[in-house]
Parts: sequence; C-alpha cells; structure tokens
Amino acid sequence: MSKLSRNSALEESPRFQEPASRRDFLGLAAIWSAVAAFGAALIGSLRLPMPSVFPESNSRVKIGHPERYPKGSVTHLPELRLWVFHDAKGLYSISSICTHLGCIAGRSADGIFRCPCHGSIFAPDGKVLQGPAPTPLHWIAMGLSPDGQLLVDTAINVPLGTRLPV
Ligand code: FES
Repeated sequence: MSKLSRNSALEESPRFQEPASRRDFLGLAAIWSAVAAFGAALIGSLRLPMPSVFPESNSRVKIGHPERYPKGSVTHLPELRLWVFHDAKGLYSISSICTHLGCIAGRSADGIFRCPCHGSIFAPDGKVLQGPAPTPLHWIAMGLSPDGQLLVDTAINVPLGTRLPV
C-alpha cells in the first residue's frame, strides 16, 4: 500500500473526521430554536378560537327561591350587577350596568338610577331620563329552575315590562 492511499483511507475514517465546529453547533441550535418557537406559536394560534370560559355557564345564575323576594321588595344583587323587584304583576330584574360605557349606575331611594361616570339618569323602570346613555337599562331574563329557584340569565335581555308572574 502506498503512502498516498494510506493517508486518504485515514482521512475517510470517522475517527479522523473534523469535529463539528462551534459555529455549526450554534447554527443548528438557532434553527431548532426557531422551529420550536414557530411550533409553539402555531399551537397557540390554533387554540385562540376556543374560549377557555363559556359565557353561557357564567351568565345563568340561581338567585334563591321566590320567597326571598316578597311582594313590594327591591333587592340589590351587587355581585350580579342587578336589582330584583317584586310588584303586583310579578318579579323582574334590571341591570345596573349603564348602557353608555358600562359603569355601574347607583339607585337612590326615589328609584332613580344615576350613573356616576358621565351623568346619565334612568327612571325606575330603566328608561333614559338624561343622556348620554343611548338606551334604557337592560331588563334581564328571569325564570324558574327545576328546583324551584329563580334563575336569571345576565346575557339575555327581555323587553321592558317583562315580568315573571309568581
Ligand atoms: S358610563 Fe354611564 S353615563 Fe357614561
């Protein structure tokens, strides 16, 4: 075997191949990092259309049995941002969320709702007495659940004057 052919055989042997340089390693690391970041972004964007919280499950709330709201009563439920009324025609509820920009309107002893943010004033039945609110306060859907409790759905509005006869 000549000296020349012995040298070329040694060069082809994996033991004598040049090790990967630091630059090659960093280049590969950058490529794999980019692939991983793109994959994570793709997975995240695929999840976007799916809400993690379904509004239906939060908007339907039991507020106790009708006896809790005797005839003539006015009950504030601040956690739901609504008022429950019981008059001669039945039960109804009015949202205290101002229809202008969503501030919470307070209700005074005379039944008038006043929004502290921009001065809207609403009649006891929610109709606008003074703007800038464009529409009346919302009347909220109310019904009875199978266990006899009152059920409100804060995502559903009903026409003004709608009552639940009890
Ligand atoms: S948010 Fe109520 S008047 Fe503007």
